[in-house]
Amino acid sequence: MKERKVFTLYNHKGGVSKTTTNFNLAVFLSQRLNKKVLLVDADPQSNLTETFFASADTDTLPGTSIYETLRPRFEGNASRIDVKNLVLPDHPVYKNLYILRGDWNFSLAERFLSNALSLAITESVHEKQTYNVFYNLFNDLIKEHNFDYILLDLGPSSGAITNLALLSCDGYFIPVTPDRFCAQAVTALANLIKTWIERHRKVIATFEPFGLSSFPGEPVFYGGISQNFKAYAGRTRKPYQYWEAEILKIIREKIVSELPSQKTASEYVASIRDFGGLAPVSQLVGKAIFDLNKSDTQFASEKGAAWQGVALESWMDRAEEYGNEIEKIAGAIING
Ligand SMILES: Nc1ncnc2c1ncn2[C@@H]1O[C@H](COP(=O)(O)OP(=O)(O)O)[C@@H](O)[C@H]1O
Ligand SMILES: [Mg+2]
Repeated sequence: MKERKVFTLYNHKGGVSKTTTNFNLAVFLSQRLNKKVLLVDADPQSNLTETFFASADTDTLPGTSIYETLRPRFEGNASRIDVKNLVLPDHPVYKNLYILRGDWNFSLAERFLSNALSLAITESVHEKQTYNVFYNLFNDLIKEHNFDYILLDLGPSSGAITNLALLSCDGYFIPVTPDRFCAQAVTALANLIKTWIERHRKVIATFEPFGLSSFPGEPVFYGGISQNFKAYAGRTRKPYQYWEAEILKIIREKIVSELPSQKTASEYVASIRDFGGLAPVSQLVGKAIFDLNKSDTQFASEKGAAWQGVALESWMDRAEEYGNEIEKIAGAIING
């Protein structure tokens, strides 16, 4: 069996902590577990890229963007992307952590990829090659640079970019928030992914006669991540527990039993709580939440003085607790 190396967190609902979790997970895998990790920012809003370069003293972002990377394929000049030409900057502070950065123009890719989605089933070799573009890119990057893992950040959309990028992953997690809207979103998400996988099977059946390779397109569902950060914002937990359980049921019935998932979901892989005012600080200094220390807390205080006493202690506890939850997600990835 092919080793699973390419992962994403997906929910077409926004604001469920996909980007935050992705960044922290990447830092954990690279710093605590010594893995070589590439982050790929496939969200045109590029929040991950901003977080990544937050501590760098630069006006122009270094490295090749995802849009620049894929353009030679969209424009038909390259059958697949030559990864040797790509510049993948490493993190200003964290070793072993790299990025294929985002690009605000990446939404222009939506048109090319949606053509590929609808026309790859025809005899158009160009569209078939574009259909393969993410999968080939991830594989070629892994081969070229020996990455242990690629973590892909997707936007809150169900368009062509997300459709093809998700199918090109080996595994995915679904982050959820415990509320009615998310329950609805997860039901819709299950149908969406099912439709994508079914359609993929029909599309790739047309590749071989053209001497083209295709890809499995069956990302393994690795479980839900309960992002109950709002649940702890000074309110009672009880109603949130209801939605947490409800969503887990939907995950089991609609995703685990109906999709080629191979994993059970008796509970959430991780349960992440509110870390309050330190979220913007982490974005400001570009460090993982679990790495924020006493001196970083000065950015969270009115008077610019570092936290002390109970406030600091309680923060340190939370940071550690957050690290423990991120460790569970990393564990799920590493243990296959
Ligand atoms: N556990 C948490 N506690 C507090 N705020 C959080 C937490 N996780 C994420 N946030 C904040 O919520 C917002 C949305 O998170 P983000 O990671 O951008 O979500 P997504 O990528 O799913 O849209 C961000 O401002 C982020 O700082
Ligand atoms: Mg995001």
